[in-house]
Amino acid sequence: MDPNVKKTSGSSNRTSAKWLTDVLAWNFECEMGEKAEKETRILGIESSCDETAAAVVVDGRRILSSVVASQIDIHRKYGGVVPELASREHLRQIVPVVRKAMEQAGLVFSDLDAIAVTQGPGLVGSLLVGISYGKTLAAALDKPLIGVNHLEGHIHAAFLEAYQHGDAPKLPAVCLIVSGGHTVLYEVKACDASQNGAFAYRKLGQTRDDAAGEAYDKVAKLLGMGYPGGPILDRLAAAAGCAVAPTKFGPTKTRGNALDFSFSGLKTAVLYHVREHPEYNQEIHRREVALREGHKKFDELLTLCSAQTLGLVREFQNAVVRDLVERTMKAAEDCGVATIFVSGGVAANSQLRATFQEHAASVGLKVYFPSRALSTDNAAMIAAAAYARFKLGVFADASLNAKSSMPLA
Ligand code: KG4
Ligand code: ZN
Repeated sequence: MDPNVKKTSGSSNRTSAKWLTDVLAWNFECEMGEKAEKETRILGIESSCDETAAAVVVDGRRILSSVVASQIDIHRKYGGVVPELASREHLRQIVPVVRKAMEQAGLVFSDLDAIAVTQGPGLVGSLLVGISYGKTLAAALDKPLIGVNHLEGHIHAAFLEAYQHGDAPKLPAVCLIVSGGHTVLYEVKACDASQNGAFAYRKLGQTRDDAAGEAYDKVAKLLGMGYPGGPILDRLAAAAGCAVAPTKFGPTKTRGNALDFSFSGLKTAVLYHVREHPEYNQEIHRREVALREGHKKFDELLTLCSAQTLGLVREFQNAVVRDLVERTMKAAEDCGVATIFVSGGVAANSQLRATFQEHAASVGLKVYFPSRALSTDNAAMIAAAAYARFKLGVFADASLNAKSSMPLA
């Protein structure tokens, strides 16, 4: 309605009331229009490993949609991610996953302000699928393209979770990213130069060998527990109760940087323990057969575990959790921060969450975990991490390429 249309003389009160409501409605629409214009809708695309994901996030904070197609069932029989199979599956999934994310968000492509895509670190063949798709879409729509570091995405996942609950974490913070591919500690600070949610990162420590999630997966494999190992070992450790510990694993010492991690020694210690105790062999074999026959539910595997195995799993998890929590708490103390973020697939671990909460509360620190959906690989965290770059106008061009290793700091 055009508010400049004047009331004609002689029109009734009813007409003038209608004119007024139309003007008010028009003003309201204008205001809403301005508000809508200020919103930044970013489509995030993630394909760095074995999840094809797409999500739409508004202003780096509000998740309109988040779709994840997991390839776990494809890689399970190989006991780990097979890169060639992963890229092929990304190719199959990328179009339907993006389409679903747009539908769930209730948007069409022209409503988007930018396309964000994971540039690295990750499997090059997998990354290239998301990057090629993102580049093409951005070019076709004439929208900006933003390359995002996957690790920065994991840090933003913790923020995203807090924002969903109306919370705003205080910086500086220490962030532990702990997944199947990474175990790394960062100090996270707000960038002085901008109020755009851009952060500055300083790496404090990292694993010198296996990532914690990788250790879970390898130990699960050698115990005949299937893939991925983390979720099942998490639940078996909780079911162990006070089963006698068949062995104990002491703290891992790392020479040099006390904030570095190491998990391959622990994994090897479990392997040697199992080799030295042939009584494990029969039940490992029984579980492998059960898994091959499709009996992979927790209860089915639990009945195939002796108290000795449950005790071993509990001791393995105690050692991983103790190491992750102690070094992160030390980092928080060294940096004098009041906030800790824990993100990545292993952040879903129940004992890790409980132990962090307990330790952090005892020294007055606040610890943030993303929900399980935001802990594991997803594209909402990629869209959220891209927002600061969008505000700063840091865009990629058609030369954007995949990076298997891509340091954040
Ligand atoms: O972040 P993510 O989905 O993928 C990357 O590796 O980037 O993490 C997957 C890893 C796997 O190693 C899996 O075993 C582990 O996270 N994981 C867990 C749990 N859930 C997933 N580890 C321990 N406890 C869990 N509940
Ligand atoms: Zn990840």
